[in-house]
Amino acid sequence: MPISTAEVATERPDRYVKQLVSHLGQRATAEVGADGRGVIALERGQCVLTPGPAHLGLIATAVDADALARVQDVVARHLVRFATQEELRVEWTEPADGDALELVQPVVVDYLETHCTPPDDLLTELVVRTREVAGHAAGMQIAHDEGALLSMLVRLAGARTALELGVFTGYSSLCVARALPADGRLLACDVSEEWTSVAREYWQRAGVADRIDLRIGPALDTLRALPNEPAFDFAFVDADKDNYPAYYEEVVPRLTSGGLVVLDNVFRGGRTFDPAFRDEAVTAIRRVNELVRDDERVESVMLPVRDGVTLARKR
Ligand SMILES: C[S@@+](CC[C@H](N)C(=O)[O-])C[C@H]1O[C@@H](n2cnc3c(N)ncnc32)[C@H](O)[C@@H]1O
Repeated sequence: MPISTAEVATERPDRYVKQLVSHLGQRATAEVGADGRGVIALERGQCVLTPGPAHLGLIATAVDADALARVQDVVARHLVRFATQEELRVEWTEPADGDALELVQPVVVDYLETHCTPPDDLLTELVVRTREVAGHAAGMQIAHDEGALLSMLVRLAGARTALELGVFTGYSSLCVARALPADGRLLACDVSEEWTSVAREYWQRAGVADRIDLRIGPALDTLRALPNEPAFDFAFVDADKDNYPAYYEEVVPRLTSGGLVVLDNVFRGGRTFDPAFRDEAVTAIRRVNELVRDDERVESVMLPVRDGVTLARKR
């Protein structure tokens, strides 16, 4: 249960951040950024300190419950001690696992989905069909509001050529292909003949099959076989998570200037934020999130859309 937060009412949040960082920095790694945000890293956990209007926000994360309790104790004890002119109350939230966090409240999810351009009959039918043929795996399909976002981004970017890694039964590829001009092209990659046979049927019915070139095989092989030159205006990455850093590195050189790469599932259902999760997929997602942030070839933003979506635009 390695995530817990607290919001401490105080008129002196910046001062406490400096005091805590300066004091705890003597035996831990601690720093304050130019924006006033502090980070105190203990051996098996850390606390982020975010000064706000009339409060200090605390975000404690750790590899396990014991380490979390230690982070909470060290920070709260010192904070209360430094507050000589006021009485501070540090009330931590119940510790939670990253994958148990409610990233967006269900009522908000439903509202978002029903307050964007509605899906047409074909997309609606594809959702039902995917549930029938894929059962539990239907959860891999992107939701309608994310599809609407993809269509809008393709149009805003004025994309003519697009790339998709992870087709499944075709929802996102339909949203991308339909937003391309009539002479546009989508190179779509997946390993599954079974799932993409459904996608093919819907591409036909949507009248976009002639714009889509489906390549069956590991997406990394398909990408590496392409000329290493800027040929794509848009890319959507939604295949196996372990390969995200490699996908990103193969996609960026193939993006045109001003081209956009969109990465799905950058929150991994909240596991990204929780140091207790160290499996290959979540480690790869953390790595790609840092890669994108530090990459001077792009400007980027991460959106809390569904399971987290990163947009990186090539300069
Ligand atoms: C999350 S789903 C994609 C969902 C899809 N974007 C949609 O809107 O319905 C992931 C897809 O990636 C495919 N996949 C898994 N590993 C892959 C790989 N190494 N190369 C290409 N595709 C892969 C799976 O077959 C699956 O169809």
